[in-house]
Amino acid sequence: MTEERQRGRKRNRADRSKRKFTSDKVAVEKNESSPSVSAAASDGVSKSSFSFIEKMKARLSGGHFRMINEKLYTCSGEEALKYFNENPSLFNVYHSGYQEQMSHWPQQPVDIVIKWITARSSSLVIADFGCGDARLARSVKNEVFSIDLVSNDPSSVIACDMSDTPLDPTSVDVAVFCLSLMGTNFPSYLKEANRVLKPRGWLLIAEVKSRFDPNTGGADPDEFVNAVCELGFNSVSKDLSNKMFLLFFFRKRNKQAAGSNIEWPRLKPCLYKRR
Ligand SMILES: C[S@@+](CC[C@H](N)C(=O)[O-])C[C@H]1O[C@@H](n2cnc3c(N)ncnc32)[C@H](O)[C@@H]1O
Repeated sequence: MTEERQRGRKRNRADRSKRKFTSDKVAVEKNESSPSVSAAASDGVSKSSFSFIEKMKARLSGGHFRMINEKLYTCSGEEALKYFNENPSLFNVYHSGYQEQMSHWPQQPVDIVIKWITARSSSLVIADFGCGDARLARSVKNEVFSIDLVSNDPSSVIACDMSDTPLDPTSVDVAVFCLSLMGTNFPSYLKEANRVLKPRGWLLIAEVKSRFDPNTGGADPDEFVNAVCELGFNSVSKDLSNKMFLLFFFRKRNKQAAGSNIEWPRLKPCLYKRR
């Protein structure tokens, strides 16, 4: 064997052992660093599967929300009460979906109502019909009767169908309906407000604008205002300027029996599209 060939063989052995060492080292490194490497690897996997699961969850709860929302807009208050009584957890599903929807609105009507109340005497007694998470009561100093189909906190929210509340007659100064005229029997909610309001008491209604678009099957706002007036109110003002909702301000007349056979326009259900 020539010297040159011997040197070549040595080089090859050294290379092989270098390679072996390197691959062993990689193997060891892999093992040594298994927590971080596998964390990083599984991180990669879990990140994508996590976001997939989150997406699926969001889709499911979005679908669930739309289903409950549609139910509330297409049944009577009595049916809605039965629906939630049979499965109270649906109320929270509805409200997380509702909050998600509202987060896309530039302004929330409940904030305008809160501002309106805050600018007046804190001695006014308020009834918040369809209070949701009772934000109104938490935001003002006034005494507020918060009413909804489900109460997560019975010490602050009265659970009932708002067409039949336990409030005393003529006991309330301001009745608020903020996006809550959902049931097909919504006129009975306004009759209940009329019953509990003091003479000259205020009726504040905020509703989704699309429900009042006659071009797309919604109600004519003037017909709605006329019907409320026939119930025993005077229209004080309305604000149709917001893109998302309308605001109506009424005052209960002193003494005047509610008209019978009032022709109420149909308020188009507010159904949300899949995003
Ligand atoms: C769209 S959310 C609005 C919640 C709150 N007013 C706000 O502005 O954030 C309407 C609320 O009205 C309630 N609601 C609908 N029909 C009702 C009824 N017949 N009796 C009591 N609450 C009702 C729903 O359960 C829901 O919480």
